[in-house]
Amino acid sequence: MLGKRVCSGWLPFLVLCLSLFIVFLHIMSVLELRQHSAAEVPQRKQYKKFDHLVFGPAAGEGLSDRLQCKGNKTLTKTYFGASSKNLKAGSNISIVTVFATYNTAVDQLTNGKSIDSVMVGNISYKKVEKSIAILNVFVNFIQETMPQSNIIILTNPSSKLPVERDRLTILPIQGDYSREMLMLQRIRSYIFLETRAAEHSKWKGQVNHYIFTDSDIAVVDDLGQIFNDHPDFHVALTFRNNKEQPLNSGFIAVRGTPEGILRAKSFLEEVLKVYTSKFMKASRMLGDQLALAWVVKSYASFDVRRFSRKQAFVDQISGASVLFLPCSIYNWTPPEGAGQFHGMPLDVKVVHFKGSRKRLMLESWNFLKSTSSSDIADMLCLILRSGRTKNFNAVLFFWWCVTVTPHIFGLVFESSFLRV
Ligand SMILES: *[C@@H]1O[C@H](CO)[C@@H](O)[C@H](O)[C@H]1NC(C)=O
Ligand SMILES: *[C@@H]1O[C@H](CO)[C@@H](O)[C@H](O)[C@H]1NC(C)=O
Ligand SMILES: *[C@@H]1O[C@H](CO)[C@@H](O)[C@H](O)[C@H]1NC(C)=O
Repeated sequence: MLGKRVCSGWLPFLVLCLSLFIVFLHIMSVLELRQHSAAEVPQRKQYKKFDHLVFGPAAGEGLSDRLQCKGNKTLTKTYFGASSKNLKAGSNISIVTVFATYNTAVDQLTNGKSIDSVMVGNISYKKVEKSIAILNVFVNFIQETMPQSNIIILTNPSSKLPVERDRLTILPIQGDYSREMLMLQRIRSYIFLETRAAEHSKWKGQVNHYIFTDSDIAVVDDLGQIFNDHPDFHVALTFRNNKEQPLNSGFIAVRGTPEGILRAKSFLEEVLKVYTSKFMKASRMLGDQLALAWVVKSYASFDVRRFSRKQAFVDQISGASVLFLPCSIYNWTPPEGAGQFHGMPLDVKVVHFKGSRKRLMLESWNFLKSTSSSDIADMLCLILRSGRTKNFNAVLFFWWCVTVTPHIFGLVFESSFLRV
């Protein structure tokens, strides 16, 4: 009798549990989305942070085309660095990022509180310090993997960036760098730079390719091969299999020929036009991505199904030859909350530390420099294994739900029966 009651009582609990679980997953993905949005603007909002890395298993275990790890060591002998001599002589690359700091009163107020400082290694960073540290690590990675490249930081004329390096130029551009306008300003700054470059290349015949990126990325392999492997594009974007946001604006490459620069410039001008006319009221962080996707999808011949495949492809859009590169290689995001790439491809070139992953970026550089034996592939193992807190939470929650809720409901039922 008792056995039967328990058994028949289980089904509703399981259903309830599953629904709770689905609600939980939904909440997590909404949080994740908010973190994604936060990613696009440096230090916009601080989320509660763990004061240490959380390690899980490395995704993609057993897959021959994915990085294989044992602890912090790679088991796969990858070919990182093998492509470093790929760029044709006489051309060079500039990696360009937009960076603004916010020294508002609010920031300073919260700076005083310890909740906003982060320990990485034995250094404690406050908000602004941390974003400068991230900018430094951004530069470090590029100088490690692409020592021949130039780096340009576009910034507010009023910012004094304490970053000084060889081959690094800080270029102040007038504009509106407020948080609301930063994504818009970013496209404007890119266009400004391209306008300048287009005039310059007319006189000199020099080929100087541009790669516009977020500053929370680590370049882990030479990017020069994009321009050789795909000789026909003017502008390159990264795509992923995501219906709402198939394009990420954190990586845009522009071929440094006069034609490449001009076509990329008019492509970005169209994106800017769409942004200002359609997406000003949309999420202030995602406007540029929505505008990019809108411009691309508005070309009738464009086949969106290609976003669900893995291969790079080229299409003609707005008069430009646009190369679409897979995010899984050129814009790989650590799995914390979003393991959509199922491990790390062996030829990953750019790791994007969006949102709350930024401390992992600092940790990764420290790890790379900490022991003489560690190389980039080992560091990628550290990245691949770390920060999988969401999945861990999900498993824990499910376990809790299955074991605890029947008891709680059992108690509730029993007490209501007693009252009757
Ligand atoms: C991997 O490296 C991290 C960071 O240095 C460290 O905390 C962790 O203990 C290491 N794990 C193993 C298995 O060596
Ligand atoms: C690009 O490289 C050439 C040498 O190949 C160099 O003379 C030139 O100054 C470089 N251009 C820039 C903008 O750094
Ligand atoms: C932090 O650690 C590094 C090496 O791990 C050491 O050289 C440095 O002195 C330490 N700094 C402080 C403030 O403890």
